[in-house]
Amino acid sequence: MSATIIDGKAIAKQLREETAKQVATFTEQTGVTPHLVVVLVGEDAASQVYVRNKEKACLTAGMKSTIHRLSAETSQTELLELIDQLNRDQQTHGILVQLPLPGQIEEQAVLDAISPLKDVDAFHPENVGLLAQGRARFLPCTPAGCLQLIQHVCPETSGKHAVILGRSEIVGKPMGLLLIQRGVDATVTTCHSRTKNLAAITSQADILIAAIGKANFVTAEMVKPGAIVIDVGINRVDGKLVGDVDFQAVSEIASAITPVPGGVGPMTIANLLKNALTAARIQVSQQAE
Ligand code: GUN
Repeated sequence: MSATIIDGKAIAKQLREETAKQVATFTEQTGVTPHLVVVLVGEDAASQVYVRNKEKACLTAGMKSTIHRLSAETSQTELLELIDQLNRDQQTHGILVQLPLPGQIEEQAVLDAISPLKDVDAFHPENVGLLAQGRARFLPCTPAGCLQLIQHVCPETSGKHAVILGRSEIVGKPMGLLLIQRGVDATVTTCHSRTKNLAAITSQADILIAAIGKANFVTAEMVKPGAIVIDVGINRVDGKLVGDVDFQAVSEIASAITPVPGGVGPMTIANLLKNALTAARIQVSQQAE
């Protein structure tokens, strides 16, 4: 079997165009341009690229974007002060602090400090709680993007066995919450570094999501024939980007697979824009009260 390659770039473009239309209508009706503020601390090369891409996508969708670039020596107190200022600023609708942060800053303290109404990453405990209870305010960008890609090739996910590799707060955990929500109705198994008989579990997956950050970790022997394989990994090997899945071998077994790059990555940004618009809507409606 030769798998369908799931074109994340094209699907993300569609989603971004839809959001751009909604932004235009929102701005026409309210006079407000949604404004996403991104905070980048330090010089991490990959983060610089991600942040620039986020800004470009915002502008293309008709939103305003501001990047605060802080030195790698920024203290936690300084960063928390900036967040406090952005939380109180009525012209700032969404706040994203690019991860990872330098070692002197405690990541969780920073994410907890962002107003949950401006938390476009959906990392704040209040937003994680709402998601867990099936009443999400913002959908976490990468897991939401994975689900959209899955639904693109498999509109009926009810009763399907989804196996997630990785239990991170950014992808693995929220991915499970999205897949078991009513209306999606998958049966979810989450595997991690201590899971025993990993290949025996992954081989049962109708939908396999790899989010562990290990290049080419998922081999053909671990995949059930006809499975849908979503590769969240972005690893650099000899200067080349590769996913967590051995793409060549697995694409001979799977029915559909995402490439790296051009699979999940573009979906993350498309969902970020959607959340920035949602954040603007929430704040405009609150200010009108
Ligand atoms: N760094 C890598 N992925 C992400 C993400 O989704 N959000 C933030 N804030 N930082 C990241």
